[in-house]
Amino acid sequence: MGVWLVDGGSVTIGDVVRAMSLFSILTLPMEILGFLFQEMPRSVVAMDRIDGVLAVATEPRPEPSSESRSEMASANATGSAGPGSGPVVVEFESVGFAHPDGLDVLGDLELRLEPGESVALVGATGSGKSTLVALLAGLVPPTDGEVRIGGQATTTLGPEGVAVSVATVLQETFLFADTVRANLTLGREVADDELAAALDAASAAGFVSALTEGLDTMVGERGVTLSGGQRQRLAIARALLRRPAVLVLDDATSAVDPVVEAGILAALRRPADQEASSGERPTLLVVAHRLATIRLADRVLFLDGGRIAASGTHEELLEVEGYAALARAYELAGGKA
Ligand SMILES: Nc1ncnc2c1ncn2[C@@H]1O[C@H](COP(=O)(O)OP(=O)(O)OP(=O)(O)O)[C@@H](O)[C@H]1O
Ligand SMILES: [Mg+2]
Repeated sequence: MGVWLVDGGSVTIGDVVRAMSLFSILTLPMEILGFLFQEMPRSVVAMDRIDGVLAVATEPRPEPSSESRSEMASANATGSAGPGSGPVVVEFESVGFAHPDGLDVLGDLELRLEPGESVALVGATGSGKSTLVALLAGLVPPTDGEVRIGGQATTTLGPEGVAVSVATVLQETFLFADTVRANLTLGREVADDELAAALDAASAAGFVSALTEGLDTMVGERGVTLSGGQRQRLAIARALLRRPAVLVLDDATSAVDPVVEAGILAALRRPADQEASSGERPTLLVVAHRLATIRLADRVLFLDGGRIAASGTHEELLEVEGYAALARAYELAGGKA
């Protein structure tokens, strides 16, 4: 173009050089502008997705609120055990639960757990045990009736409020890619003897001290891979460190052998703090599949088809047909183990 224009005499060589250098200066900014326009739609979509994640209601955080933490500190100072809440009664009042797709899981649940009581929850698979646990932990609101922890409805307390007094250990345990200690304390300041006591009660002290760096061993994705039973025991120790008034174990000892399981449950039934004069121990709700575990409980709840079909001691419930069949099956499975 420049040669043709200079030949025609309409522009000078200087004009052509000027235009060329101007274009070479403009190339980079134009490229950047093009890149921006190309990235814009992708960023908008990404932002939408991140917003979606941020908008999700928060899960219960295991850390107590700052106020209950200071209460805990003062409780420790005076030597008495227990979290900010103290002993609490758990009540289910005509509770029902149905999934959005219309399937009724639980109905007409009437239940009262006294402080310090240990209760085994027994029922066939799919009978609604985990659903009952989720209701107690305030993870899902009941569709009917009310679940109360210490007199307050879980729906008003919210999952975080419930977590102040209720600690739940689920079958699927989660460990962070961090040290054993960090996985137990979750960033809280915890005294070493308290850590040791919790590990002891959860029968985890042995294998933790056998790890190359003890409490400072990295676990999870970037560290030592622990067995299912070891993970479960760490999860129980983590729950115990919160000194919950109510401890709920949903199949949380399924991967440990029966002898260790019995040891853990026996330890849980002793007062958490031996020196405490009050001798408080947490209320215990255990989803159990082994007869030895079930026999340890003060009371057995038998869930059948989403209803509490019977409640009483193991011996009393053997009169109930469905329960007796289940107990026989557990006995056979236990014999093999
Ligand atoms: N998201 C869901 N949507 C619809 N139905 C569900 C959902 N989750 C669970 N259920 C149903 O709710 C019922 C109770 O489930 P739940 O997990 O409470 O049983 P469970 O007693 O804990 O069984 P398991 O002993 O196998 O753990 C089951 O029949 C199950 O099919
Ligand atoms: Mg379950």
